[in-house]
Formats: sequence, C-alpha cells, structure tokens
Amino acid sequence: MATPLPAEAPAPIDDPIKRNRSEGVVVECNGTEAKITTKAGAIEATDDYWAVGQLISIQVGKNRVVGLLHRVENDDETWDPDEQNTITLHVELSGEVRPDTHRGFVFSGGITQYPYIGAIAHKIRKQDLVTIYKSSDASAITIGSLSQAPDIPAVISVDSLLSRHFAVVGTTGTGKSTAVTLILHLIAKHKLNQRILILDPHNEYTSAFGNKANTITAETLDLPFWLLNLEEFQQVVFRGREGSQEEIDALREFIPKAKTLYRYGAQKGVRRKGGAGATFTADTPVPYRFADLMKLMDEEIGSLDGAMRRLTLRQLRGRLEAVVNDPRFSFMFGSHDATDRIEDVLGNIYRVPLDNMPITVFQMSGIPSEVVNSVASVLCRLAFDIALASQSKVKTLVVCEEAHRYIPADVNSAFAPTRGAIARIAKEGRKYGVSLAIITQRPNELDPTILSQCNTIFSLRLGNDADQDVMRKAIASGSRSTLAFLSSLADRECIAFGSAVSTPMRMRFRNLAASARPSSQNVSDGESIQAAAQTSLGEIVYNLRGAAAERDEQDDDEEWTINSNALAESFPEPEQVDLAHEVSLKRRSLLRRKTD
Ligand SMILES: Nc1ncnc2c1ncn2[C@@H]1O[C@H](COP(=O)(O)OP(=O)(O)O)[C@@H](O)[C@H]1O
Ligand SMILES: [Mg+2]
Repeated sequence: MATPLPAEAPAPIDDPIKRNRSEGVVVECNGTEAKITTKAGAIEATDDYWAVGQLISIQVGKNRVVGLLHRVENDDETWDPDEQNTITLHVELSGEVRPDTHRGFVFSGGITQYPYIGAIAHKIRKQDLVTIYKSSDASAITIGSLSQAPDIPAVISVDSLLSRHFAVVGTTGTGKSTAVTLILHLIAKHKLNQRILILDPHNEYTSAFGNKANTITAETLDLPFWLLNLEEFQQVVFRGREGSQEEIDALREFIPKAKTLYRYGAQKGVRRKGGAGATFTADTPVPYRFADLMKLMDEEIGSLDGAMRRLTLRQLRGRLEAVVNDPRFSFMFGSHDATDRIEDVLGNIYRVPLDNMPITVFQMSGIPSEVVNSVASVLCRLAFDIALASQSKVKTLVVCEEAHRYIPADVNSAFAPTRGAIARIAKEGRKYGVSLAIITQRPNELDPTILSQCNTIFSLRLGNDADQDVMRKAIASGSRSTLAFLSSLADRECIAFGSAVSTPMRMRFRNLAASARPSSQNVSDGESIQAAAQTSLGEIVYNLRGAAAERDEQDDDEEWTINSNALAESFPEPEQVDLAHEVSLKRRSLLRRKTD
C-alpha cells in the first residue's frame, strides 16, 4: 500500500540529507540502458529532483556517459516523507562527453566505456548540456532553446538539414507552419544561393516573407501548356481520370510532330522523311502551337480509312477543344501564340536571377483541385530538372505543406505525377541539391518511403497512437524512449532528431514576431538578401531540352533561317500534309514490321 503524500510537505531546505538530489549509483547496465538506484526525500520546494525527460550523466573514468531518464520508480511503493526513500531510475544511454586536448570537452553519440556497477550518476551539469548541443558547424543556426535549460540555445546545422530532406510533424495548432517559417527565414538569411518553393494550400506564407517572396496565385500563374510532360498533359486533358490508351498514344504521336513543325517548319519535316520528330518527345519542353496539333490530327482524320482510329482522334480532338475553352485552364492556353517564353516563366518561378527574392509561394487555395494537381506536379518536376540542367547551381528547397495530401500512404489516392515528382526529389534530389521539407499533421497517412528519406525530423506534439508508431519506426532505435514524450510536448516544443542535430534534442522554438509568421497580415521586416552566384538561363534551358535538340537546331541554322512568324504564315502548305502522311506511313511500316 502506498502511503499518501502529505498535503503540506515540511520544508527543511537546509538539511542536505533530506534533499531530493542524492547521487545515484549504477546497479545494472546493458548495451542501451542503465538502472540507477538513489535516495529521495520529500522536498518539493527546490527543482533538485529526478524526473523523466532529464538528461543525466554517469562518471566512467574521465568520461561522462550521457543518458535520458525515461522512467522513475519507487521500488516498494511506499513513501515516508521524513525518511530517505530508495527509488530506481531507468536511463537510456545516448553518448558520452570526453575530454579533448584541443576543444576542452566533446560529445559523441555512442559509448566507448560503459558504466560499471557502482558508477556514480548525477543530473547533467549545464556545461555538459552546452557541449552536447553546441555545433561546430559553420552553418549552425539557433532555432530556439533547450527545454531542460532555456538559457542554452537549440542549434541545428543548415548544411546537414539541406543535404537531404527534413520533416516537421505535429498535431494541428502545435506550431509547425510557424516553425518552418522560422527555419526558412534563417535559411534565406544564411544560405544566399538557396531557392525555396513553397506549395501553400492555405495561402498563409506570402505575408510571412514580405518582399522576399514572389507569390504565384490563380490570377498570376503563367504556365504554358507545352511545359507539361505527357503524363501531366494527359491529366489535364482527361480531367484527372484515366484516359483511353489509344488517345494517349495519339498525343504521344502528334505532340512531337507539332513541336517539330513549330521549330523547323514543314519543309524540314519533308526533308527528314518523317524522322524530324526524332529529337523531340512528347516530354521535351519546347513550344508548339495548339492549332498545329489540331490540324495535324485533322489531316490524319481526313486521310484515314480505319474507322476506329478516326473515332479515337475525333474524341481526342473534342476533349482538347473543351480544355482549351475552359476558363480555368486559361493560365495554360491563354496566350495562343507559342512564343518560347520558357526563360521568363522558369526565371520567375525558380528565381533566376534571384533578385533578392529567393522564395516562391504557390498559393493553391482557390485553384480547382484538378488544376492544382497538374501545376504542383509541373513545379516539383521542374525544380528537379532545373537543378540537373544547371549542374546544381539552382538549388531549390521544395516545401510541401499538408504533404499527406499529395504523397499519401495510399498510392491509389495520390495524384500520380505529383507523387512521382516528389518521390524523385526524395530519392535523387540530394545529388543535385534539391531538397524537400515535408510538413504534415498525419505522419501515419504520409507515404512511408518519403518519410524514410527525411534524415532530420522535428516532431511537435503527436496525440494519435498510429502517428506516434510511424515516428517510432522512422527514428533510430537509440532514441526510442525520447519518443515517449511526443504526446506530452507543449505547443511550440519539439524533439529534433537526425543529422542536423548531434543527438535528439528536446527544444522550444524561438518566438517569431507576428509580422514574420504565416497568415499574418503585416509585412515582414524586409531584411534584404544579397543575390549570390547567378547562372545563365540560356544554359539551363539548353541542358533542359537536351543538348541533342539544341545542337540539331544549330546545325540547321544556316539552312533554315526562316523565323517562326514566317513559318506560321506559310502554314498550311501541301508539305504539311506530306509530313503527317510520311510519319504515319513510317509508323505503319514500323508496325507492320513488328507484327510480321
Ligand atoms: N514560434 C512561434 N512564435 C510565435 N507564435 C507561435 C509560434 N509557434 C506557434 N505560434 C502560434 O501558434 C499558432 C499555431 O501555429 P501554427 O504554426 O499555425 O500551427 P500548425 O501549423 O501546427 O497548425 C500560430 O497562430 C501562432 O500564433
Ligand atoms: Mg499549419
């Protein structure tokens, strides 16, 4: 039977025997845990008590082994307020502080000398806390303070943070968006050449960044249809539903032809005997005229005998017409001239040049869902393609708010191209300097393969068991007991795990001024950011389209100097019919050969 605590504890503070802070002694230890026995009295008037969440240190020779106190027990379940009671402390070992000839003391995860039975344990001294969480990294930024010692800064390494991907998880209202905004402010301040693209489903980020942010809204969005790859275009044409394979094949066939026609004109097509489309695929980001696409299809319809094929093309034609006339898609088809605006479009979104505005916010709220999906997927895909084409000079951090919406655990409910584009960044982005910030209140509903690519995680409070389980799986076993605290963190408090911190760090985010927070109506402090190394857009576009296509174009410059307007006027000429015919003959002969 436990003796109930007295309503009012006596307070003989000056009696050291009664203080709730006797040293502990290790009585049991395995590879990961130590059990410590100690005495405790009844003093509540001081903060000298053992409690879960504290870090403790165990003296082993010259080293101090560090561990997290995650369970406290009173062995015989009785309590005598006037006596010293024996209690047991359960500690998960996390690393050690060692003397270093050059740096005083250093901390490292992992333990070289385990505690022996009888080793003495203390609550950790402040200097050791500083040693554990300080960062020698030049890219260190202070994002808050330690929960255990609010006067010690909580520091993370930006370079490590951006070298892979990071995630911020936590129940709604715990402070995720504000924490991310804080981190983004610091990145923008310290990493001068870092671009940030925010997919913002609640239109809340623009106000946080003031004049550092370039905002894309439904009204200002300018994304020519020819920038879409076939998969994305298909989603637009079939309104997010699965399209007929025959129609998709027709798009795959006619889009490169329309591109060739626009780029080289009809004559070139003839000269190449149907091989002209060889350098373009339906995915190459070069312009074409929508009218050309329609005309090419019409010509094919006119020259065909096969009723089936004719039906397919007619259906597709009807669909294309409907999309072009849909005002919701006017940002894609609005400008009917197919001038090559790729440099303007990409330069604006991906901040080349930076122009002191490293952040692009894509405000998704207010844009119809099927449109949002196509656009988000193009933006994510191009962030990767541009990093690749710029040889990593244009590095973008893609911030995915409400990430479980586009990259859900359930593959079937995801919009395939967006999911694909984000998954590609998750898997390969590191090589080219593209990273992800994944924000979600439901880690359980997020694609686990994406979460597994995040090697820094900031977990704010998570109430839901399933969500906590996911975090347990995502985080290295050495810090499991830390996870027990996830459900009891305060607002704005988090546990930071992974490569940007030396060991799991329970911390509280800095207070962010209202004007620099998401959703705020005010403008931010307008701190100016210097544009750093810039790169040429021409070069990026060259690489994006594939050196082959451009080389081809250069070879032909002397022969085909007719400008695109002249080509437009000369259209349609009998040659175009020939081009379509040639290509279809070629295709048929190929098909015949295949079936033979
Ligand atoms: N670091 C912070 N500094 C100041 N206020 C904060 C901070 N974090 C959270 N808040 C407050 O808490 C509220 C909820 O935070 P928010 O970031 O929107 O949460 P979440 O994105 O997790 O739903 C915000 O409106 C803000 O006022
Ligand atoms: Mg939020």
